[in-house]
Amino acid sequence: MSSTSFRQDLVDELRAQGRLTDPAWQAAVEAVPREVFLGDAVFRPDGTQWRPVCREEFDEEDWLRMVYADTTWVTQVDGMNAAEATGRLAGRPTSSSTLPSLVVRMVELAEIGDGDKVLEIGTGTGYSTAVLCHRLGDHLVYSVEYDEELATSAAQHLHAAGRAPTAVVGDGLRGHQDGAE
Ligand SMILES: C[S@@+](CC[C@H](N)C(=O)[O-])C[C@H]1O[C@@H](n2cnc3c(N)ncnc32)[C@H](O)[C@@H]1O
Repeated sequence: MSSTSFRQDLVDELRAQGRLTDPAWQAAVEAVPREVFLGDAVFRPDGTQWRPVCREEFDEEDWLRMVYADTTWVTQVDGMNAAEATGRLAGRPTSSSTLPSLVVRMVELAEIGDGDKVLEIGTGTGYSTAVLCHRLGDHLVYSVEYDEELATSAAQHLHAAGRAPTAVVGDGLRGHQDGAE
């Protein structure tokens, strides 16, 4: 099964559950390849610890099945990125790719729609940023991430997915004056 088919199945599942109602957001979830944003590894909970699981341990279809589960995938624990972890870790998640149904729930609850300009705080992998870009247009999306390494990899993911929002490195709680009007 292809990435496109997994995305379509995810949208169908979220629609059937009533968790994705707006056709424009459906199109965004259908369009954004989440695997590009998860990179080569994520953390899975393992008892009280986190175990890195790597793309290379899976065949392509099984990896995509995992990627498109409506699940938050933790990508960093106490500053350690999953791709760099050599074994289990104790600690708290410090970055993740939020479950797609929650990404769309947040934007639907915020009533974000045509013509809106959005400042996202916490780019993380860039997945939710790309969903916003697809719906609103790159020029209306600003995203702030305070972890420089994550900001760099998110920018790479977004570029690879063909998206070009304004990506800012800094503390999102300070806002982003340059984008305000
Ligand atoms: C849950 S993750 C990202 C989720 C991402 N938006 C998504 O939905 O896939 C939260 C991210 O916010 C970042 N972060 C937390 N507080 C922040 C702040 N005050 N300013 C900028 N980034 C922040 C963290 O480094 C982390 O990468």
